[in-house]
Amino acid sequence: MKTILVTGGAGFIGSNFIRYVLERTGFNGKIVNLDKLTYAGNPENLADIQKKYKGRYVFVKGDICGYDTVLGLLKKHGITTVAHFAAESHVDRSIFGPKDFIETNIHGTFSLLEAARTFWAGRRDVRFHHVSTDEVYGSLGKTGKFKETTPYDPRSPYSASKASSDHLVRAYGHTYGLPVTISNCSNNYGPYHFPEKLIPLAILNALEGRPLPVYGDGLQVRDWLYVEDHCAAIWRIINKGRAGETYNVGGACEMKNIDVVKGICRALERAVPARRNKALNGKAYADLITYVKDRAGHDRRYAIDFSKIKKELGWQPYVRFGAGLGKTVDWYLANPEWVKNVKTGEYRKWLTKNYTR
Ligand code: NAD
Ligand code: TYD
Repeated sequence: MKTILVTGGAGFIGSNFIRYVLERTGFNGKIVNLDKLTYAGNPENLADIQKKYKGRYVFVKGDICGYDTVLGLLKKHGITTVAHFAAESHVDRSIFGPKDFIETNIHGTFSLLEAARTFWAGRRDVRFHHVSTDEVYGSLGKTGKFKETTPYDPRSPYSASKASSDHLVRAYGHTYGLPVTISNCSNNYGPYHFPEKLIPLAILNALEGRPLPVYGDGLQVRDWLYVEDHCAAIWRIINKGRAGETYNVGGACEMKNIDVVKGICRALERAVPARRNKALNGKAYADLITYVKDRAGHDRRYAIDFSKIKKELGWQPYVRFGAGLGKTVDWYLANPEWVKNVKTGEYRKWLTKNYTR
C-alpha cells in the first residue's frame, strides 16, 4: 500500500490531485500534505476532504526547504511516493521578486531529493514524481511543439527555477538511482485556481464589472488543460511511468490569450447574462477587455507534443475547452464564500500593491 507525501497540496493543482486520488482512483492508502501555506496555499481547498478522510489524509504546515522536517515526515509515515507540487508558480511574481522562486523551487526541491535519497537508501520500489512546466522549453515560433527532447531554454525567473529543479531531479535519478519521474505540463485551469492567473482573474473581474487585463497584443498562445486531466496524467505516471523518464502533458488546446478572454465572456454571458448583472452597468462582458502593458520577456507561444504519454501510458486529455471553462465558471459561481475569503486575504493586499492598472 502506498503512502504518499504530496508537497504543495493546499495549492491549485495539488489540492485537485489529492481530491482526485482519494475520490476517483480507488486508492486506499494515506496521503500526507506538506504545505507552507504561502499566499497561494489555502487549506479551505480541502476542508471537506480533511473531515471525510480522517486518518487517511494528514495536513502538515511546513516548508519543503527544511530537510529535517521532510526527513522526519518520510520516516514517521513510511512514505513510499513523493508527488512534488510545491512551488512559487506565478510568472509575474517571479519578475517582481525572484528570490522566493530560487528558494522554494530550487533549494526546496534539493532538500526533498536529499531527504528521499537518505530515507529510501537505494530502494527501487518507491517513486519521486516532480511536477513541472512546459515553460522550461522556452518560447516557440508560429509552428512546432515541445517534445521531451526539446532543449531547455527558460526565459523567466519562474521557468529558470523550474528548469533548475528538473535538472536536479534528473541528476538524482542518474547519479544515485533515485526512482524519479518528471511531467512537464501546459497551462492548467479549473476549480480552486488562485485568482492571479489569467482565467480565474478574468472570471472574477468580469463578474464585478472590472477591467479584464490583456497583456500586450493578446496574441500570445498557450495550451490549456483542465486540471482533472492533469491529475489523471500524474497518477498514471506515478503508477505506470518508467523511472528516469520525462512525460510531456498537454491539452491539445492551443489558444490566443484574447480568444481565451473572449471565451470567458461568452461562458459568463450564458451563466449570468450581463443585462442581469448590476455590476456591469449596461455594458457587455467583452466591453471590459482592456489591453495593458505587456509582461517583461513575455513568451510568445507554447504548444505540447504529448504523444509519448499517450503511446506509452494511454493517457490523453478528455475535457474540451468549452466544457472545462463552463465547469470552471459554474464552480466560481457556486463557491462565493471561497472567493470572498481568498479575495479578502493576502491576495488583495498583493494586488493593490503591485497592480495599479
Ligand atoms: P499554486 O501556486 O497554486 O500552489 C503552490 C502551493 O505550494 C501552495 O499551496 C503553497 O503554499 C505551496 N508552497 C509554496 N512554497 C512552499 C514551500 N517552500 N514549502 C511547502 N509548500 C510551499 O501552484 P499550482 O498552480 O498548483 O502549481 C503546482 C505545481 O505545478 C508547481 O510546481 C507548478 O510549477 C506546476 N505547474 C503549474 C501549472 C499551472 O498552470 N498552474 C502548469 C504546469 C506546471
Ligand atoms: P498566466 O495565467 O499568468 O500563466 P503563465 O504565465 O504561466 O502562462 O498567464 C497566461 C497568459 O495570459 C500569459 O500569456 C500571460 C497572459 N495574461 C494576461 O494577458 N493578463 C493577465 O491578467 C494575466 C494574469 C495573464
